[in-house]
Amino acid sequence: MLKARITGTGLYVPKKVLTNFDIEKMVDTSDEWIRERTGIRERRIAEEGEAASDLALMAAHEALKSAGLKARKLDLIIVATVSGDMPLPSTACILQHKLGAKKAAAFDVNAACSGFIYALSAADAFIRAGTHERVLVVGAEVLSRITDWTDRSTCVLLGDGAGAAVLEADKGDRGILSVKLNADGSMWDLLHIPAGGSRMPATEETVKKRLHYMKMRGNETFKVAVRTLEKLVLSTLKEHRLEPEDIALLIPHQANHRIISATAKRLGLGLDRVMINLDRYGNTSAASIPIALDEAVRSGRVRKGDYIILEAFGGGLTWASALIKW
Ligand code: ACO
Repeated sequence: MLKARITGTGLYVPKKVLTNFDIEKMVDTSDEWIRERTGIRERRIAEEGEAASDLALMAAHEALKSAGLKARKLDLIIVATVSGDMPLPSTACILQHKLGAKKAAAFDVNAACSGFIYALSAADAFIRAGTHERVLVVGAEVLSRITDWTDRSTCVLLGDGAGAAVLEADKGDRGILSVKLNADGSMWDLLHIPAGGSRMPATEETVKKRLHYMKMRGNETFKVAVRTLEKLVLSTLKEHRLEPEDIALLIPHQANHRIISATAKRLGLGLDRVMINLDRYGNTSAASIPIALDEAVRSGRVRKGDYIILEAFGGGLTWASALIKW
């Protein structure tokens, strides 16, 4: 049986750092509130003119380098993003061109913060079906462009960045063991951008009313996230007859340290077995898991043969998990 194995990872974050103290000067908030309620200390912000595909390109180069693979060998590129370069074409097509990956098909996935796992699941299915052998999956976001910098309830949370993974077909026992994808569209309005689509096309009025920025009902989202993530991870473990202590590392979406530690506590996992980097990057939506994965791999926190779990929760609402034998 073919498996999709991650053979390389990479990340790129913009150089510019925006600290909580910088945000204190922009809206009515404090470093203390942000750290205590979210765990975030600082986030990265893209340069003017830097778009999602630019960040994706840098992360993709790193992932290809660590996999020892040339871009022209790729069969497929999937980019998970809610802040792509433009509505048309897909950011994946722009990335395909920049990489010179002429043989690769390319498409985007929009599942907000769960986007990377949704994209990983698509890559896994293509590889197991035997139609594609080498797939690049990228999560890339320039959320600073869809952030309302006058809205303290969202602007303190978000950051820019990209992470990438190369997946290759493998006949061994290592690779993606299972992926679980879920959605509940009845709660779509907890997290959305009202204008700029076919429901409410851009007009002078929509711009004036700041309707092109992300709106979030954070507290309601928080409660659903904590409830859902515990169930999701436990059912993944049960299906594979694994116990929480069998997991070497949990790599959660980096939205809020309170969500992460509540999930870890309910699972009985010590924080030493949970990857947390949101203090440095904030919530980078679809980019957060591949950035954390790359940091975990490069720092030696994931070793050959380890079981790791990725889990995410985000707009849609969507939630997803992946169990991987590294
Ligand atoms: N600084 C100071 N005070 C603030 C700030 C701020 N930046 N933001 C909100 N407050 C205030 C509120 O006005 C409120 O004041 P009040 O009590 O006087 O009314 C108080 O703080 C508490 O507000 P809550 O919204 O209840 O705060 P909460 O503890 O829920 O934290 C947060 C807010 C951090 C947004 C949290 O709810 C959260 O992390 N939610 C989940 C986010 C998430 O997971 N989203 C999905 C992924 S994102 C994606 O898909 C792109």
